[in-house]
This record gives sequence, C-alpha cells and structure tokens, in this order.
Amino acid sequence: MAGDVNIMVVPLVFDIEPGTPPDSLVRLLRQRLGHDGEVYLVAAPGRVNIVGEHTDYNGFPVLPFAIDREIRIAFVLSDDETIELTSIDGYGARSFQVDESRSPYTQGDWGNYIKAAVRGFLEEGVIDAGRARGFKGICAGDIPVSAGLSSSSALVVASGMAFLKANGLEMDSMACAGILARSERYAGIEGGGMDQAVSLMGKRDTALKIDFFPLRIRPVPLLDEHVFVVCNSMVQASKTASARASYNRRVVECRLAATMLRAALVKRTGVLIDADRLGDFNPEKTGFSWEELERMADEIMRGSPLPLSVIADRVGMSVDDLVEKRCTLRDGSVFIQPEEGYEVRKRFLHVASEARRVEETADALRCGDAVAVGRLMNRSHESCRDNYEISCDELETLTSIARECGAIGSRLTGAGFGGCTVNLVESSFLSSFMRNVKEKYYEDYLGIILDSEKQEKILFPCRASDGARIYRYR
Ligand code: GLA
Repeated sequence: MAGDVNIMVVPLVFDIEPGTPPDSLVRLLRQRLGHDGEVYLVAAPGRVNIVGEHTDYNGFPVLPFAIDREIRIAFVLSDDETIELTSIDGYGARSFQVDESRSPYTQGDWGNYIKAAVRGFLEEGVIDAGRARGFKGICAGDIPVSAGLSSSSALVVASGMAFLKANGLEMDSMACAGILARSERYAGIEGGGMDQAVSLMGKRDTALKIDFFPLRIRPVPLLDEHVFVVCNSMVQASKTASARASYNRRVVECRLAATMLRAALVKRTGVLIDADRLGDFNPEKTGFSWEELERMADEIMRGSPLPLSVIADRVGMSVDDLVEKRCTLRDGSVFIQPEEGYEVRKRFLHVASEARRVEETADALRCGDAVAVGRLMNRSHESCRDNYEISCDELETLTSIARECGAIGSRLTGAGFGGCTVNLVESSFLSSFMRNVKEKYYEDYLGIILDSEKQEKILFPCRASDGARIYRYR
C-alpha cells in the first residue's frame, strides 16, 4: 500500500566483503570455536515509544522508533538440533535441543526468550521440530536491561532470525513480527506486538505508526533540529518480576473492560457485535462518538474497581466463563483476581485517550510541530500515571526535572513501573539538558555520579535506526 513501510523478506542477509576486518563478536566466536569458516552476525535493535503506551494489545496504534542500541548474536550453523548461546555480558550459557523449547527454564531466566522464539516457529508450523537445525553462538548487547527499551524483544527477534537462518528459511517481515509477538508471551508476559514489529522493521531517521489486527506500518517523519533523549530512572522494571503481574493485570482489565463495553453496546443497539478488544470500540467501528462511548463506560463500569462477580453479572456471563475467556494467559495459567477487584474504567479512559494521542502526535510530527508533540507526550504521561497507574515516584521526579531542564515533552516509555523516560529536546539545548538532568536527577536526587562510561548507558540521545539484519562473514 502506498506510504507503508515495505514488507521485506526476513532474515535480511548482507554479505560482508572478504578481507573486511570482522566485528569484535565475530572475532571472539572464531577464537572460541577455533573456526575460520562462515560466521553470521544478527543485530536486532531496541526501541523507544514516543506515544501509544499499552495500546498495542488492545488493537490501537503505537508510535515508536528502533534505536541505535541492539542485541547482537554471532553464530555458526549447527548440523544437529542443538541451540547454544553464551552471553558475554555475564548472563552465562544456555544450551537446549530445539524440541526442549517447549519446556521453559525457571521464570525470569534469559534463556526463556531464546526458547520462546524457537517455540513460536514450531507451534505455528513454520519449522518442523523433527527436522530443525540449531545454531551455536555468543551474544552481547548495549540496550539497558529491564529499562523499558525492549531488550527482551530484541533478544527474541535476534534468536528468531538466527533460528530461521539456521533452517535456511525466509519469510515476510509482517508474518514474522506476528509470530514473534505471540511467541514472546511464552516467556510469561501478555505483551502486544509493538516491540517485535519495530525491532524487525525499524527505519533509519523515521518513527513508525504501527496498527494492529491487521498489522500495518507507516513511516512518520521525525522532527528536524530536535532529539529524543533517553533517561533511565534506575528503577528496574523487570518484566519477569513484579512488573510482570502488574502488566498482565492491565491486559486482563482491558479485556474485561472490552467485554463490558460490548454488553453496553448490545444493550443500547440490540445488535450483537463481534468485538473483544478495546480497539474495536471507536467511533469509526461503532458509530458512537468518543463522548458517547465514555458515557456508556461510565454507566456499565460504575463503582470500578469491581470484583469479577459484579462484572459477570453486568455482562450476563458466568464467572467461570469470564475467567476462561478473559483471565487466562497464553501459558494457560489463570490471572488471580486482585483483592480490590479489577480497575476497568480508568484503564478504558487511558487506552481510549492514548489512541487519539497517537493519531494527533503522528499528525503533529508530519507538520513539524514540536510543541504539539511535546504537549501530547506530557498528556500521555499524565494518563499513564493517573489512569493506567504505571508510573512511580522516580519517574515523576525525572519527568518534572526534565521539563524544568528544557524538555518540550517528557514521559515514561515502554511498559512503565520504572525504566526509562523519553524526552523531546531541541538540538541546540542538548548539552545543557544533559548536564542539568545529570546534576539534578542523578547526582542530587539519586546521589550517583555518572562518569562518561556510565552516562553512555543511562542518559543518552538516541537515533532512529534500521531494523534487524544479518551479516555473513566468510
Ligand atoms: C511492553 C510490551 C509492548 C507494549 C508496551 C507498553 O513493551 O512488550 O507490547 O504493550 O509494554 O506500551
């Protein structure tokens, strides 16, 4: 379709001219294996999201870009079904047979992201476990971990590409993004598809507006003379620890909110509609304005947070049915009802308003209106804090310091519960912004001194980059 990002074939393989000095990871792998034949290097980037938080799994769009930080795996093809990967960043080595990808390591183990990617291709019938081949390699990365910049999805994408390559397969990037998004859920988080799509299909100097169900990707220009700066709050937002339950809870709350809205619409129109995501409830699809949809939500979700029994009663379903259809996760486990019940109304308000902010931000970027982009980023942050409840004291302090120090817009990025903020800064203010945030947040508030090596990992401007690719060294 005109204007869309081209559907590519993945993995994209670039041949490195013989005689070119090898990349350091490739050199290290050759040394370790005593191998001077063909070696592949896959690189998959992380991302920042400008606006559109927690909209993807609801079927509303997002607006991220791939960043110039990546997970890299140097590997050789195996002639059996063993997958072996050693982290040179100190996370140890993992080795398993392709078929063992169906039994995860203990929760939180980094090897589960490799297994998830492999399992996805098996379960979706792309690769036959009986005939599959593995790979052997080492990996490294410069995406801060547990910081909301998608280091885990970059590992899933890089492992998935290596596995495709090991089996001599190519597929279209859209289908691959869908498979890897679904497969990452085997690692325990009911994520949407933003991270895998942007890591695969990122485009240099460009943001992507990504729509889901069906997946569609359109480039959106970034602003001239402005930079996006990442600041790490230093609160670990590990998707495998408590943030995982908090994330999954919101996914369940949104599913329940959608079920309630559907019941409200059926009551209002007398027509049964086929819709199960909040993204199905917009003016275009329902014929009702946002204000009317909000009024319907206010009515059916009154008293939120609500226990499942009340939700079941209001939507005319049994509690068991609701649990099976709405509270069950990809790994088959059931999300345990929180003591205070499910917060459905606030979640709906965030998602519905965030969806509109994505459209408005994309328009503002196309018009080169930095002030509007910044305002929308700030509004998004407020909604993430007040209605989605995914901020924390450190993120609040960091975003307000950033605005005081000249950011036009500042907000948490990624899943929240800690992690990084993304800040829109005029290029001419970049160095004073960095200096002031470094002093006020890191030194004065957190009491840490950032030398230049540390700063590089914690507080840095980022550049929109191309998506994942493989290099072949002969
Ligand atoms: C995580 C998930 C994404 C998305 C964001 C929040 O990064 O992996 O799918 O839901 O959180 O926007």
